[in-house]
Amino acid sequence: MTGTILDEAAVAAAWDRNTETWTQEVRSGLDLYRELYTFPAFLSFMPPIAGKRTIDLGCGEGSNTRRFAKLGGLMTGVDLSGEMIRRARGHEEKESLGIAYEIGSFSDLAPFGDGEFDVALSTMALMDGPDLPGALKAASRVLKPGGCLCFSVLHPCFVTPAIKWLADETGAHLGLRVGRYFERVPFVEYWRFSRHDRSEQKAVTEPFEVPRFPRTLSDYINAVSEAGFRLVKIEEPRPSEELARRHDWLNRWYQHAPLVLFALAVKA
Ligand SMILES: C[S@@+](CC[C@H](N)C(=O)[O-])C[C@H]1O[C@@H](n2cnc3c(N)ncnc32)[C@H](O)[C@@H]1O
Repeated sequence: MTGTILDEAAVAAAWDRNTETWTQEVRSGLDLYRELYTFPAFLSFMPPIAGKRTIDLGCGEGSNTRRFAKLGGLMTGVDLSGEMIRRARGHEEKESLGIAYEIGSFSDLAPFGDGEFDVALSTMALMDGPDLPGALKAASRVLKPGGCLCFSVLHPCFVTPAIKWLADETGAHLGLRVGRYFERVPFVEYWRFSRHDRSEQKAVTEPFEVPRFPRTLSDYINAVSEAGFRLVKIEEPRPSEELARRHDWLNRWYQHAPLVLFALAVKA
């Protein structure tokens, strides 16, 4: 996609193309970072949602939205990708949890009225959209006063455009090289869920094509406060020692740097 403008239409088209493999693999539990590390940590970090009108920003095919619904959240999911929303609605038709899904951008949330929600959640999606200030202003608009915004993103300080693991001659990780931190140039990243045993399946699936919009830590924090939120806490979750012992690919993130950043803020 070199030379292509990475606007929302391009993001939607890329995620439409990713949808089939993404849905199949996420629903099969092959996203082990999510299953073992990032989602359990997010559940411990996020506010209570039982009985709360809650919107999931960039919900994808809805795996996390359904988990939030099972915690009692009165869920709405929104995603730019029509294909993702089609899969999410398809699951809802088979096994209803009362979740409403809409196609739309989290950067305007046009289908939703002011003050419609108590909580806005977002897991691993805000770094994949071109307009972060717009997304946080839209979240502020659809939340009632005192409503909570809680999100996870790839950690902007460590997962930079020039990220590279440094290892010694035995392959042991020595640290993480970051680079081009200030370079806010959108790019397309190609990757697979690599931590699974189905190597034959890995060989036949195309890698995901993920438009990425690198930002600095101050971009995130300042966009939160400029959208009218009071930042309550941030967290840089670390895999447990036990997980690190069991999985070398998690031990890196235990020893050297956090993969993700969480933020919780309240609409002033
Ligand atoms: C990495 S996936 C995460 C999906 C889901 N939150 C999860 O954890 O499974 C990122 C999602 O963000 C969506 N997305 C990117 N930009 C968006 C935007 N401006 N508005 C709504 N969704 C967007 C993509 O379509 C994709 O489904």
